[in-house]
Amino acid sequence: MKKTRSVPPILVAILIQLAAYILLTLVQPIALKNLGYVIPLFWLMVVQGAIASGVIYLLKFPRWWVIIQFIAPPLLVLALVLSIPFWVLPVILVVMITVFWNVAVDRVPLYLTNEKTALELSKRLPKQAGLKVVDLGSGLGGTMRLLAKHRPDQQFFGFEGAMLPFLLSWILAKIGNGSNTHFRFKNFWRLDLSEFDVVYCFLSPIPMAELYAKAKREMKPGSLFISNSFTVPDVPPSRTVSVKDGRKTKLLIWEI
Ligand SMILES: C[S@@+](CC[C@H](N)C(=O)[O-])C[C@H]1O[C@@H](n2cnc3c(N)ncnc32)[C@H](O)[C@@H]1O
Repeated sequence: MKKTRSVPPILVAILIQLAAYILLTLVQPIALKNLGYVIPLFWLMVVQGAIASGVIYLLKFPRWWVIIQFIAPPLLVLALVLSIPFWVLPVILVVMITVFWNVAVDRVPLYLTNEKTALELSKRLPKQAGLKVVDLGSGLGGTMRLLAKHRPDQQFFGFEGAMLPFLLSWILAKIGNGSNTHFRFKNFWRLDLSEFDVVYCFLSPIPMAELYAKAKREMKPGSLFISNSFTVPDVPPSRTVSVKDGRKTKLLIWEI
């Protein structure tokens, strides 16, 4: 299947804010001329946020994008008014980028598989020694560390594209002395899945069709593709496991 990745949402969000800013800059002299009134910067930014969030809402972005679009411009003004030290905003930005990089690029945020789901997953793994299991977008690595503890005779891999979660997973694996866990800082689209017997992922609805197509192309017959919560459009799973946790998680399992 051809890759169908669209424009990164962060770019769309920035362009909309920029367009709203330009629009308001053009409106400001008109307001001054006709009303004899300069709109205060804070209220200008509130209007900018309202326009930007309205546009992102019409583009059917998730609700949290709408909220971020609305609060970002007035927050920026507040930061200026409160004279927050100049380095604080860039530091926050860098931390956000290193944690949530894949929200911007692949529309996959960081949230974690809970322990009950990881234990259920561990029960579903084939018993064979030397089995290779991979978590695509391994976050903080907790799922693979837990499985590795239960199955010391098998090998567990995690590939993560956001720097900070990857570093944490790598350090925690070293501290935990897990010789059967292996974490790499790598975009999983660049991975050859043929060497893994089980592929696990907990991503979002967006990449599922493309990822399943990749799994079908590359994985060996008989191997397992398991998705936490998100299904593949038009391809029903071979089986579904319901987890008895608070969010009623479903593990969707496809036999390749
Ligand atoms: C919802 S979290 C799941 C974390 C972990 N798998 C778990 O279940 O606890 C998804 C993770 O996938 C990562 N991710 C998204 N797209 C990626 C890509 N193309 N390559 C590597 N990691 C990616 C995100 O940075 C995020 O940490």
